[in-house]
Order: sequence, then structure tokens, then C-alpha cells
Amino acid sequence: MTDKPILRALAGEVLPTPPVWMMRQAGRYLPEYRSTRAQAGDFLSLCYTPDLAAEVTLQPIRRYGFDAAILFADILLIPQALGLDLRFVQGEGPRLSTITNMAGVQALRPTYTIHDTLSPVYETVKILSRELPDPVTLIGFAGAPWTVATYMVAGRGTPDQGPAHRLKDTDRPAFQALIDRITEATIEYLDCQVRAGAEVIKLFDSWAGSLKGADFDDFALAPAKTIIAELKRRHPTLPVIAFPREAKERYVGFAQAVGADAVALDNSVQPDWAAAQVQVAGCVQGNLAPHHLVDPTHLEAETKRIVAAFRNGPHIFNLGHGITPDADPDNVHRMLAAVRG
Ligand code: CP3
Repeated sequence: MTDKPILRALAGEVLPTPPVWMMRQAGRYLPEYRSTRAQAGDFLSLCYTPDLAAEVTLQPIRRYGFDAAILFADILLIPQALGLDLRFVQGEGPRLSTITNMAGVQALRPTYTIHDTLSPVYETVKILSRELPDPVTLIGFAGAPWTVATYMVAGRGTPDQGPAHRLKDTDRPAFQALIDRITEATIEYLDCQVRAGAEVIKLFDSWAGSLKGADFDDFALAPAKTIIAELKRRHPTLPVIAFPREAKERYVGFAQAVGADAVALDNSVQPDWAAAQVQVAGCVQGNLAPHHLVDPTHLEAETKRIVAAFRNGPHIFNLGHGITPDADPDNVHRMLAAVRG
């Protein structure tokens, strides 16, 4: 039996107060993050410098006492480890070299070489599993294959994931081969995170909502199911959180379909609906809209509404998406006071 509140909720326990952490809890809204990033030089150097990546992971734990720490890294490190060029342009987001056909997929580096690039991330996990306070759970993560593929095909973030949809619809074999390569690399990457000390894994499928009908089955459900099944074969007690953002009615039964222990809800989902339709089958995480941490007018009421809606089942309190750089750090204290009562 564990004393860690996050692991208890993931095992299906209903706790009097839900455990809580925040997506992007280490980030630009914190002055101490901005200072450590400046010390590292840039975002990617921060991701690949274990001491500094561990430091920014710990900052929100020290400031707020969250129940979970999430490894500081990025979902786009996998494309980089597979051989794509990656840079983050200040104020514009990520830029990558692109994959547009089967030749591009075949030119990716073999899976066994990804650790040459990613081993500093495993070192960060090792530092964290030594340094985190006892009740805090360490979460490792990766992007789900569809979301990672949308960046590898477009070379950047896109409002509608158009380039990835076009490759999927015009050259299915190349697109499927890309998904398969990402799936395989993601399994090895996450396996190394777990062996280094990650206690829970979260799969971020930020663009799952743009997959419709059978495409959702083929590219959101199927790869997640493959990754989770293999991780659980290697680590039978490992809990996994799936995040099919904007999946709407496809949230119903999603965790069970992919073999996850919990599903993270985005903030377009109504808590009462999700309690009845999704939480009946297992633990849910979520789902405060991040803008309440910028303008706190309805912060306390919304936080309490979510806690109340999910109080009869297993629940981890979180945001519905990442906290934004313009959030006021003091509002996070107000949110925690409203959760913890
Ligand atoms: O605190 C944490 O949540 C852990 C670290 C983490 C980051 N990115 C750090 C980060 C995690 C889990 C992610 C996931 C991630 N990265 C996702 C999935 C979740 C989501 O937000 O939908 C995606 C799509 C990415 C890709 C990515 N990384 C983009 C599009 C951007 C640029 C947009 C932005 O917010 O600036 C990033 C950069 C990034 N990743 C930052 C951080 C703290 C900001 C970089 C900076 O310091 O300038």
C-alpha cells in the first residue's frame, strides 16, 4: 500500500481531498523558472542539462507543495532524437525539419540510437527520484504518436493539423510508417524513464480532437494502446494517464480502450457530464480552465464546482491544459486553498 495521494487516486481510491498538480507547472509564469532558463541559455539546453532540468521541476513543488512533479522535458525531444532538426524560436514556438513522404520516414535514425540524445533526460529523472519529498509522485511523459507526428509533418504547430491530415489522407503507408516509428521510439523512451525512477507515465495527445471517426480509432486509440500494453508488460504495476485533448464524447470509455488507469479531461468537458459518463469507469484528472489563473474573478467558484462534481469518485485535480505565461503565481495559491479547503 502506498501513502502517495496521486498513486492512491490512480488505484481508484476516493480521497477526502483530491491530490493536485498542474500541467506546465514548471514554466514561464514563475520568476525562478525564467531565471534558471536564462542560466541554461535557452529552452532546449535547459531540457538537456539534468541539474537545471531537475531544479525547474522542483521549483513549483517547493513553492506550492503539489502532490506530483512532472519531469521537465518536451514532447518534441523524440523527433529530435530520431534525427529531425529542432529549435524553439522565441515568441513563435517550435520549428522542425519535416517528414513529407516514405523516404523521409526511412531516413529517420534507428530507434536504438535515441538514447544518445535522450540520456540526459534519464539523468534528470534519477536526480528527481532522489530529491523529491516522500509524498510527491514523479510523473514521466511523452507525446502520443499522432500529436508528435503533427509537428514532424508540418515542422511547426498548426491550428488545424492540416499537413498531417493531408499526409494521412494522400499517403497512408508513409503516414502509418511514421506513426509506427514514433510508437516504437516512445516505448523505449518511456521504458528508460520508468527504469530511471518515473512512477507514473502520462501520454499527451494534445491534438486528438482533430481526429474523427475511424481515424480516431487508428491514430489516437491504437498507438496509445500499443504503447501502454508494452509498458505494462515490462512494468506491470505502472499507472498511466492518457490525455486525448478535445476528444469530446470519445472520452467515454477511452481509458479502458487504451488500457490507461486515468484519463485527463480538457476544460471543454463539463464536470457533471464527465462524472456520470467517464469517472464511473475510473479515475479522472482535471479540468480547470487555465484562464482562471490569469483573471481570478471566478477562480474559487470554478475550482469548488469541479471538486464537488468529482467528489464521489477517484479524482486528481488539475487544469484542462497548461498554465499560461501570463498567469499570476499568487492565483495558484488561491486555487490550492479552494481545492484543499
Ligand atoms: O511542467 C510541465 O508540464 C513539464 C514539461 C512540459 C513542457 N512541455 C515544457 C515546455 C511538458 C509536459 C510539455 C508538453 C508539450 N510540449 C506538449 C503537450 C501538452 C500541451 O501543451 O498540449 C506540446 C504540444 C509541446 C510542444 C511545445 N513545447 C510547444 C508547442 C511549445 C511552444 C509553446 C509555448 O508554450 O511556448 C513548447 C515549449 C515549452 N515546453 C515550454 C515549456 C516550459 C516553454 C518554453 C520556454 O521556456 O520558452
